[in-house]
Amino acid sequence: MKRLLALGAVVLTTAALAWAGSDDQPKAGGAPKPVITKAVKGEQCVEPTDTMRRDHMKFLDHHRDKAVIEGVRTKKYSLKECINCHASETTGSVAASKDDFCVSCHSYAAVKIDCFDCHSTKPQGSAAMHPLNAETAHYKHKLAAQAASKVSAEEMAGVAQ
Ligand code: HEC
Ligand code: HEC
Ligand code: HEC
Repeated sequence: MKRLLALGAVVLTTAALAWAGSDDQPKAGGAPKPVITKAVKGEQCVEPTDTMRRDHMKFLDHHRDKAVIEGVRTKKYSLKECINCHASETTGSVAASKDDFCVSCHSYAAVKIDCFDCHSTKPQGSAAMHPLNAETAHYKHKLAAQAASKVSAEEMAGVAQ
């Protein structure tokens, strides 16, 4: 019985300390940190996580140019594959709600991407679900790859004729 009491005292003290400790923690100021939804599939990403965190846009850009401009199609960095692993279990999408994978960090970092204007945000969707055909997008991607500034819709329309 004595031992149990002692144990109880230890537990209580630890809890009290933890409580005090949590009170001492500086409160996160400003915007809440983004919730990064866990990947639903796969043990790991196509590159180490910290590399992906920093450089995912480079892999996407490079893969896109290879696929769309050079016609070299591979699976590893395909946007479809990202979506297969990263779509949320709740929304089934990478960009339907504010906590979805491709949204949370971006809104936190104030990054805007137009990828989902054309690309499906859900696994198994078709890559292009929009009135533009692959040819138009090909030009857009090609122009975007060459241009320092964004390609306007008017330029796009001109190119597509
Ligand atoms: C085989 C499944 C799989 C594929 C395919 C995949 N990922 Fe990942 N990704 C993961 C896993 C697992 C992690 C580690 C973090 C986690 O468990 O959610 C991760 C981590 C990341 C991170 C860092 C997240 C963080 O916590 O900081 C980014 C960014 C990312 N992936 C983007 C992509 C992009 C872009 C693609 C497509 C080019 C892609 N991933 C393809 C499974 C995958
Ligand atoms: C104007 C519409 C449009 C926009 C905007 C767009 N894409 Fe694409 N993209 C396409 C089409 C169409 C293809 C060709 C699809 C195919 O043939 O598989 C393509 C192909 C790709 C591919 C190679 C195929 C694959 O599944 O991996 C990648 C990677 C890609 N796009 C990434 C992006 C990213 C990243 C963005 C945003 C920065 C983006 N795209 C914005 C229309 C678009
Ligand atoms: C761990 C946080 C995080 C996640 C998760 C994440 N991104 Fe990003 N992404 C960023 C940050 C931060 C930047 C801006 C980096 C910079 O400006 O150097 C960025 C930039 C980008 C860009 C380039 C935008 C531009 O205008 O140059 C693309 C494309 C992109 N992300 C696509 C994706 C896609 C697709 C997903 C989901 C598969 C995704 N990201 C998930 C943090 C994230």
